[in-house]
Formats: sequence, structure tokens, C-alpha cells
Amino acid sequence: MAKTWRCAVVGTGVVGEWHVKLLPTFPNAKLVAVCDVDGAKAAEKLKKNNITGVAVYTSEAEMLAKEQIDIVHVCTPSGDHLAPAIMAMEAGKNVITEKPMEIKLDRIEKMHAVAKEKGVRIAGIFQNRWNESNRTIKKAVEEGRFGTLSFGACYTPWYRTDGYYRDGGWRGTWAMDGGGAIMNQSVHAIDLLQWIMGPIKVVSAHASSRIHPEIEVEDTLACSLTFANGAHGVIMGTTAMYPGGGVRIEVGGADGTAISEGGLKRFAFRDKRPEDQELLEKLNTKKSTTAGGSSATDVELDLHYRNISAILDSWDRGEDAETHPMESRKAVAIILAMYESAKKGGVPVEVK
Ligand SMILES: NC(=O)c1ccc[n+]([C@@H]2O[C@H](COP(=O)([O-])OP(=O)(O)OC[C@H]3O[C@@H](n4cnc5c(N)ncnc54)[C@H](O)[C@@H]3O)[C@@H](O)[C@H]2O)c1
Repeated sequence: MAKTWRCAVVGTGVVGEWHVKLLPTFPNAKLVAVCDVDGAKAAEKLKKNNITGVAVYTSEAEMLAKEQIDIVHVCTPSGDHLAPAIMAMEAGKNVITEKPMEIKLDRIEKMHAVAKEKGVRIAGIFQNRWNESNRTIKKAVEEGRFGTLSFGACYTPWYRTDGYYRDGGWRGTWAMDGGGAIMNQSVHAIDLLQWIMGPIKVVSAHASSRIHPEIEVEDTLACSLTFANGAHGVIMGTTAMYPGGGVRIEVGGADGTAISEGGLKRFAFRDKRPEDQELLEKLNTKKSTTAGGSSATDVELDLHYRNISAILDSWDRGEDAETHPMESRKAVAIILAMYESAKKGGVPVEVK
């Protein structure tokens, strides 16, 4: 019989609540404890979602000492993933972190090293990898259906209010958010772009805060880039485009073009296959076109479910999950290169 994973959530804000809501719906997981420095908030999230019999803590150390836990879900601010993750792994627990796994490469590498040292596993959330349209485009790249790839782009034209940045006190700060529209929001699309197209070699970016005077980071960035395979591309991300639209991924080459934007909008190849039209009809949904576009709370939880489920299945098989640290590191490396380039006025910077 498959193992039942005993889970705890650290950080019960916007996204911690998603994990709190989802975990009781898994056949092979059980939510046993929650922890937040604001204990009243954690208790309130359980009450709001009619979840009973789950212990509430304000100290992760105390929770780890008292509860029998297999996995700690780290849902704290992005620049505060390292400490809760290391504490959990040092106590012999596995870890699932929200995106980005951390905001600096050395911190992600440290998390990877501690997991190896302690013989536990760690994986990140990048739920959009479980979106059917994105998976379909990736599969077509793997099958070589685009021929020589010429272009790949991702656009995250979102909108966030000043209130969004004030809330929680950490968003829009270099220390805790690690950046702005790119590190927090566009990280999803950037991960998809490199996952589908392959590694990005060099970036040249420009960035500033256009409409959020209170934040120290960018609310808008535009970048041109070259992939390791020689294709060219574009990344744009913003939280300054009211009312916020859908994330768009474009891939094209000698033999085909594909576009996902809240569904599969284009899937056209020189070698036409009957199933292409069926896929377009099946995946061309309007439902989630602007998911996440105007607020952090209009995101469907189904993709989180699939992401967590895939992690548990890999771990059940005794394997690392697809979103293991060195995989989660890739989008952060691209983002940090873009920031370096923007800081230096757009000079080309190699991705580490
Ligand atoms: N996957 C997604 O689509 C998605 C969407 C939004 C946010 N996120 C990520 O989720 C993480 C949290 O974002 P959020 O919007 O939920 O933030 P939030 O501010 O709403 O919640 C963070 C919570 O963590 C608590 N906290 C802070 N430090 C703590 C600590 N050391 N120990 C215990 N609790 C602590 C805070 O009190 C707060 O309740 C971020 O890394 C963010 O990038 C992911």
C-alpha cells in the first residue's frame, strides 16, 4: 500500500492556505500541523476551511520536536525559505518549497547539499509545468516537431495594486522578495520557457518601477535573450499593466509555431497530425486566460494538486521529483542574470 505522507505547512498566508486546503484532499497525504509566526492567522485558516484535528504552532522547532512529520511545506516569504527548509531537513524531514525555491543561487545549492547530506528529499512548486497546454508544447519540442527552433518568448502582463505590495511587508523588497514582477510573478513563465526551449545562454534586460513608487524593485522588465541552442527570444514581465492579462508562451521554428495563453491558442506544424486539431479544441479554454493576472488569489488549485501529487509519486518510487533543487535553480539563475544586466544598463550577461 502507498505511504501516507504526514505533512505540515509553515507559513499560512495566501499560498500556505492553498496547501492547507489541498492536503486533506490527497488520498496519500495527511495535514498534521501548521505553523506561522502569527498563530492566530494559522488557526483562522484552519477554521475558515473547516479543518479540525490539526495542531497549530508559532515555532517550527517546537512543531518538529512534538509532531510526527514526513514533509514540511515551506510557504513563507521567498527570501525566508532557506531557514525553515534547513531546519526541517536537519530534523530528518522532506521539504516542499513554494516558488521560487529561494532568491539566491547559493541558498538553493545549500538546500540541495543539506538534503543530500541528511538523506532526505526537497522539491519546489512550479505548478504551471502541469498545465496541459504547456506540457503539450514541451512534448512537441522533444519530438522535434518545430525543426530548428528560432524563437521563444514569455509574457507575464499582470497588475498588482500598491496594497498588494504593502500587505505582508515583504513583497517588493530585495531582501525578502528577491526582486519584483520578475522574481515573484514572471518566475513561473520563465521556468516554463527554459523548460520548453532549453537553457538560456545570455540575457540583456532593462527594468524599472513604473507605477509603484513605494517599491525598491522593478514592476516592469523587458529582456532580449539567446538560448544555448542558438534561438532568440524575449521575456517581459510586469505588475503594472492594468487590469492584467494572461501569461503567454510562444515557441516557433522552421516547422511549427505554438502559443499557450490560458490554453493552447496555436499549435500549427508542417507535418499536420489529426490529433493536433483535437488538442487545440480540447485545450483552447478561455476559463483561465487571466489566471493570476489581477491578483494572487485567482489561481486554480488543480495545478498545485498535480505538482504536489507528482512530487509524492516520485518520492514513493524512491526518486527525486522533477522540480528538485537544481531544476528549481534554473529560473532563478536566469532572473539574477537579467537583474545584473538591467543594473548595468542592459549589457549582455551570461546565465550562471
Ligand atoms: N505558486 C504560486 O502560484 C504562488 C503564488 C503566490 C505566492 N507564492 C509564493 O508563496 C510564498 C508565500 O507567499 P504569500 O503570498 O503566501 O505570502 P504571505 O505574506 O501571504 O504569507 C507568508 C506567511 O508566512 C508567515 N511567516 C513569515 N516568516 C515565517 C517564519 N519564519 N515561520 C513561520 N511563518 C512565517 C507570515 O506570517 C505569513 O502568514 C512566497 O515564496 C511566494 O513567492 C507562490
